[in-house]
Amino acid sequence: MDQSLKELLLEQPSVSTEPLYNILRNCSYEFKTFCILNTAIELGIFDYLASPQTLESLCETLQLNTDIIRDMLAYLKELELVEESNRLYKNSAISRYYLQSNSPFSQHNVVKNLENGFKIWEKLTEIVKAGPIPAKENKFFANNLIHSLAEEALGGELPKVVGIIKELPEFVNAKSLLDLGGGHGLYSIAFTAANSGLWADVYDFPNVIEDTQKYINKYRADRVGTIPGNYFKDGIHKCYDIVFFSYNPGGKRPELIAKIHDRLNPEGIFISKHCFYRQGEDSKNLLLDIEWNLLSFEGAPKESRIYSFYGDCRLEEYLELVKNLFIIKDVIEAPAFAGQGLGKIGDALDSVLIIAQKK
Ligand SMILES: C[S@@+](CC[C@H](N)C(=O)[O-])C[C@H]1O[C@@H](n2cnc3c(N)ncnc32)[C@H](O)[C@@H]1O
Repeated sequence: MDQSLKELLLEQPSVSTEPLYNILRNCSYEFKTFCILNTAIELGIFDYLASPQTLESLCETLQLNTDIIRDMLAYLKELELVEESNRLYKNSAISRYYLQSNSPFSQHNVVKNLENGFKIWEKLTEIVKAGPIPAKENKFFANNLIHSLAEEALGGELPKVVGIIKELPEFVNAKSLLDLGGGHGLYSIAFTAANSGLWADVYDFPNVIEDTQKYINKYRADRVGTIPGNYFKDGIHKCYDIVFFSYNPGGKRPELIAKIHDRLNPEGIFISKHCFYRQGEDSKNLLLDIEWNLLSFEGAPKESRIYSFYGDCRLEEYLELVKNLFIIKDVIEAPAFAGQGLGKIGDALDSVLIIAQKK
């Protein structure tokens, strides 16, 4: 054996593995943790542990391998998602609230949406060579994202945003609201719950509206209607006291400002909630920029940074354009209304809530 091969085997490498292994160890543990959580949901373990159960009864009923489930339950206990006493396992408060499928706050679609995202990330090598996977915009939202966004909103942002809007005197007196690109429609459902004299229309693609109707039925929201359409191509035929426009492709495009102005009653209120880039700002989050570029939309052509589309205004430009047609009443920063981030498309990041009154 020559000297250099001997050194390779007998001496420490001159550059330590430590920084690399720190990264890889985190990946290794976090990926396995996700798999355990996702599997526990898929197997219905959190539903079964709504009442205290032994390991044996759980495995017998759900037909599961006792050795692996024993350790999975021990790990879920470490994560404080499961409690154990006298060999009986049951959900912790957080699991009862967010991981049981019958809970109104169930986050199952959020976990599924993360999993769907990981499956796209697994194709990164292919995408980097062949380009983004083309996605039909209406199918992308109708798939699982809209349900994930609904569950994320219920987790915090929805009550915060509605809490801010319901304090506006114009909201208290409003009779009609248009929820443009309203998706799940939960904002409209909550706005009509906060104002008993309000009618809200959710406007979205025809196939998304089918899901909106399911949310309307679920919450028995009898003052929420749906309008199918594409707000870039189709007309909107009614006028409203309030137009609510939240997290929409095109939400930073100048041409929709005049269209919205036109559909508002005199002194009507325009509420826009979007993630803008400020003058001179480049990237908000590199991993989310990469995620943004894994798929391409057919409808609205994307730019390379997260949430950016061709033709978007920067925040300063947008506010100037809004001022031509509206009086800006407030610009509220994300910490006052945004939910918790999940490191995926859908995070509020540094979004702003703009409240403006028609001149
Ligand atoms: C990110 S979701 C936001 C949903 C909801 N407004 C919220 O804040 O949670 C974007 C919504 O806009 C809808 N959308 C996108 N482009 C649209 C268009 N051109 N016309 C109508 N709806 C559109 C999508 O179908 C989707 O429901």
